[in-house]
Amino acid sequence: MTNLTTVASDVLLAGLRAAGEETRLRILALLGAGDLTVSDLTEILGQSQPRISRHLKLLHEAELVERYREGTYVFYALARQGRTARLGSSILALLSPDDAQVERDRARLADVRAARDHAAHNYFRSVAADWDRIRQLHIADGEVETAIRTTLGPDKIGSHLDIGTGTGRLLELLAPQTQHAVGVDLSFDMLAVARANLEQAGHLHVQLRPGDVYALPFDRDTFDVVTIHQVLHYLEEPGRAIAEAARVLAPGGRLLIVDFAPHELEFLRADHAHRRLGFSTEQMAQWLAEIGIHALETLELPTRGDGAGELIVTLWLARTEKKIARNGRKLGVAA
Ligand SMILES: C[S@@+](CC[C@H](N)C(=O)[O-])C[C@H]1O[C@@H](n2cnc3c(N)ncnc32)[C@H](O)[C@@H]1O
Repeated sequence: MTNLTTVASDVLLAGLRAAGEETRLRILALLGAGDLTVSDLTEILGQSQPRISRHLKLLHEAELVERYREGTYVFYALARQGRTARLGSSILALLSPDDAQVERDRARLADVRAARDHAAHNYFRSVAADWDRIRQLHIADGEVETAIRTTLGPDKIGSHLDIGTGTGRLLELLAPQTQHAVGVDLSFDMLAVARANLEQAGHLHVQLRPGDVYALPFDRDTFDVVTIHQVLHYLEEPGRAIAEAARVLAPGGRLLIVDFAPHELEFLRADHAHRRLGFSTEQMAQWLAEIGIHALETLELPTRGDGAGELIVTLWLARTEKKIARNGRKLGVAA
């Protein structure tokens, strides 16, 4: 017996033909490592933009890749649904990760991402001292902070991790109700400001550590509450960062993501190092579902209404499964 979805031979042939070409196979392999734009692929593969666009068009027509628009950028991703979505993943599963060409393309992808990370890192170095003011340019802290407090509730939090903590604002906000808290950030300049802020506020139970969102310096199942506040839109792979956050979350723990809803303020990419122009609830739900956790609550905060910008901040709250004990009772942390 099989539960495989089958397709008609003409659909399968169209899919195989589309994948059966060197550059298109390389594109599929690259998309296996995350969503990319035409210009990313042009840079990595060293081919002209019209050629890459033509290959992507064929892959899209054969339903092997899907695309979505974000401002002036169009991102391409491996198809997750559709008639030939499984064909793409099956082909990639057969492709050796040690293949010389795949390795070269992955290395080039890493270089392109590193160059962008470097630009974002320089941005945070230059704005660290002024970040608390810049954060409020498009949305007032007060409303967001009230919503965060309400969403998490007033109960004591055993352990809190704030990922991409910047100047430590969220650590400060939750400090009165946390027993132990840690903020992680890649930028030493941001961490220096956070340290000064937390010392000044007298929050001695709060620690700061350098660390990368993709490789957090903690064991799995460590924290009762994990927050990611206005960080994901700077990242190349937000879904991977969410999966890493979920890894360190204790059974029954809560993950609170705060970020912008989809918007069109393209200048934020150039002037403020944003990589993504916000996230839809569908996109967030998909990333969470991929790692087996489900959003509990979504809260959209309105814009400031003073013409400062068209930005809507959204809060997404999710909870990991509690561990099931042998007697069937659910175990977990109370946060
Ligand atoms: C927009 S700031 C937000 C800071 C803080 N959460 C807030 O809302 O004020 C984004 C922060 O993410 C940090 N960041 C960016 N990429 C990171 C990475 N790969 N690992 C850890 N931190 C990162 C930056 O250094 C920066 O401090």
